[in-house]
Amino acid sequence: MQYNRLLAAAGRAGALEADRIDPLASLREQFVITDPTVVYFDGNSLGRLPKQTIEHLQHVITTEWGDGLIRGWGRGWYEAPQRVGDKIGALLGAAAGQVIACDSTSVNLYKAVMAALAARPGRHAIVSDALNFPSDLYVIQGAIAQYGNVHTLSLVPSHDAELTVNLADVEAAITTDTAVVLLSHVTFKSGYIYDMQRITAAAHARGALVIWDLSHSAGAVPMQLDAWDVDFAIGCCYKFLNGGPGAPAFIYVNARIQDSVVSPIWGWFGQKSPFAFDLQYDPAAGIDRFLAGTPPMLALSAVESSLDMLVPVGMDAIRAKSIALTEYMIALYDMHLAGIGFTLGSPRDAAIRGSHVSIRHPMGYQINQALIAEQNVIPDFREPDNLRLGLSPLTTSFCEIWDGVDRIATTVRAELHKKYPAARKAVT
Ligand SMILES: Cc1ncc(COP(=O)(O)O)c(C=O)c1O
Repeated sequence: MQYNRLLAAAGRAGALEADRIDPLASLREQFVITDPTVVYFDGNSLGRLPKQTIEHLQHVITTEWGDGLIRGWGRGWYEAPQRVGDKIGALLGAAAGQVIACDSTSVNLYKAVMAALAARPGRHAIVSDALNFPSDLYVIQGAIAQYGNVHTLSLVPSHDAELTVNLADVEAAITTDTAVVLLSHVTFKSGYIYDMQRITAAAHARGALVIWDLSHSAGAVPMQLDAWDVDFAIGCCYKFLNGGPGAPAFIYVNARIQDSVVSPIWGWFGQKSPFAFDLQYDPAAGIDRFLAGTPPMLALSAVESSLDMLVPVGMDAIRAKSIALTEYMIALYDMHLAGIGFTLGSPRDAAIRGSHVSIRHPMGYQINQALIAEQNVIPDFREPDNLRLGLSPLTTSFCEIWDGVDRIATTVRAELHKKYPAARKAVT
């Protein structure tokens, strides 16, 4: 942190120097950046477009689809969910054959929750936390309704203004009646990183299964799904994996349980031999049973192209850059934003912080609008007062962070935000 304070105190020259010595700096050039004056703090919602994806999709469209036509299924399309899944697995500490790329995060979560509840009959509790992404909680609520409302969902609260959740509180909430524990590895507002290994072990000690949502950690935070004996994990590919808007998501099912759990969606791609056209469903062995229907090949090709660039970089180098970016951001926050009404909405300890930094301000919603409209800064706003600043290890530069903080301070000092509406328009 001392180094980052010095770097922050060195002004824009410090940022330029940090970029100069950054071993991953050249990766930024491999992405489309049409307007270099834009400060993009939203790569944790929609990652930038890799240049090679344009070329790759062009090839898939004109050659594989245009020329190959339906022969494409015999030339690599059919195995794409498994092939892409294995590449994702390489980032998650998962050996081959346990991850598939398919469907959306929400749909994959639905499959995992339904399968996990069915695998723990006689248990009536589901544990999550109050920091979880609400859509994940909706999926659980739907699963509970489908199982006839025999389960209850308990949400472990945060006691530090939504920054973290006490691990001992989560452990205490898990009992021998708990069927499933579902948590986000990195929480979507504060960026808090859970101790996945510790909570997984606590759940297993009481006979429960775990499902981890990796949407905010895949491609940003290292993990060891196999070594930590995780049961299920799901996540999206459009954030730090740069797979494109609405990219297919992924699901991990540990090989240990694959043949004893069943997807609730019995589609032909999850059938033992889809082209036998049997009238009876017989689940495929292994991870394949969690497939449902035909893979969206164009979208899946975009994910694969991005992974082919990202995987060789390695999670250690990615994490080192991510920590350097968030530490620098916090040093600048201390220097320029803490004194003008902001509070830090993310943990200070890098060991429990993912790749975004939230800063909170009572007029955060207005500031967010002013930044987008007048300052060429694209953050994200999360209720009630979080400006979420996503720092993407492959694409965010130190200069971008310097410029962004400078423009945030300018906006607030000049009160540019005060002319923007204070509340979202109600959607009718
Ligand atoms: C943590 C988390 N979980 C789940 C989702 C839902 O993903 P999808 O809309 O792709 O189903 C999101 C979306 O941003 C998310 O951030």
